[in-house]
Amino acid sequence: MSDGLEGVVAADTVLSEVDGQAGRLIIRGHDLDELAGRARYEDVLRLLWDGFFDDLPTDLTPALAAARAEVFAEVAALDTGLLDRTPIEAMRALTARLADGDELEVALRLTAAPAVFTAAVVRAQSGEAPIRPDPGLSHAADILRMVRGAPAGRAEVTGLDTYLVTVSDHGLNASTFAARVIASTRAGLASAVLGGISALKGPLHGGAPGPVIDMLDEIGRPENARAWIEEAMDRGDRLMGFGHRVYKVRDPRADALKAAVRRLLDASNLPPGRLEFAEAVEASVLAILKERKPNRSLDTNVEFYTALLLEALGLPPSAFTCVFAMGRVGGWIAHAREQLVGGRLIRPASRYIGPMPLQAA
Ligand code: ACO
Repeated sequence: MSDGLEGVVAADTVLSEVDGQAGRLIIRGHDLDELAGRARYEDVLRLLWDGFFDDLPTDLTPALAAARAEVFAEVAALDTGLLDRTPIEAMRALTARLADGDELEVALRLTAAPAVFTAAVVRAQSGEAPIRPDPGLSHAADILRMVRGAPAGRAEVTGLDTYLVTVSDHGLNASTFAARVIASTRAGLASAVLGGISALKGPLHGGAPGPVIDMLDEIGRPENARAWIEEAMDRGDRLMGFGHRVYKVRDPRADALKAAVRRLLDASNLPPGRLEFAEAVEASVLAILKERKPNRSLDTNVEFYTALLLEALGLPPSAFTCVFAMGRVGGWIAHAREQLVGGRLIRPASRYIGPMPLQAA
């Protein structure tokens, strides 16, 4: 048996290919470079969902905007109990209020949910009133407006689209596998998406970018990097934003997101020198990982530059994993539909290694 199912192929998919040796990500026949920075999230959603819904419109923008407006009604259920939770727990709880099903309307509401609910939670947690979605805006533009309370500039909208597109799908990662297992039982898309959110929130998967900001802030200056990193490694901590199960070279998404940060520099909330500082920390981490784990191929993963990009967009680190869910939800739904249409119940076997019952004398 392979520990952590490493290398086990558990599904055939037309959705995405993660080539860990070449550092290449293909999303439905397109290299990530063709999509990141060029396509809007709605376009990639259309690409991922093509063939999995009978009644898919050519442009999903108005339907997704209508779904945002529709799910906003659930924001009324945000109470003080939910506001005491982390943004991802509160967002998940509101998403759980949506009806299950397998239709396009359900898929659109579930795609709108992380965006609308995260914005409402983040604002309510800082004492501000949630902002109603604007059906005239694209998904990325509306997310930035709903979170920050003011319209976003074009460069920022492109920056968020780049992020959402980059993380929209990624083979059989842990959250997508969870979503496919649930879909295989025919529980419905809402159940699959809730499973995806739950798997995503762990620090070994989508929970890493908030802690990347903590790491950068604690290091503070490039000259502190080596000592801080060595202490963390001595404690046995994982360095967030590094290492990957499949990529044995640099994660191509890290480069796509770093390029997006660079394009945004003039229009962003990043303090001067922040990108250079992050690059210095990255170089120190990579050098130390090489010294300490010479037999492992540990490189920068998507989460390191996710942190910088979402910081540049003025999004709060407490909600970074929710923003990841805003992008990955399209992939979860596509995989759930692919599983439903062509797959069997996923039910692997386990090997019993416990004690046997005592034999009667
Ligand atoms: N920092 C320090 N050491 C690391 C790191 C890291 N970030 N990643 C792996 N290692 C070490 C492990 O300690 C282990 O060393 P050992 O064999 O000497 O004990 C070795 O490298 C292999 O680690 P595994 O846990 O077996 O690798 P796995 O493939 O299971 O883990 C993972 C991949 C979870 C991403 C891991 O690299 C990690 O914890 N990274 C930090 C968290 C992170 O960045 N998560 C986001 C991942 S990207 C995504 O999911 C969107």
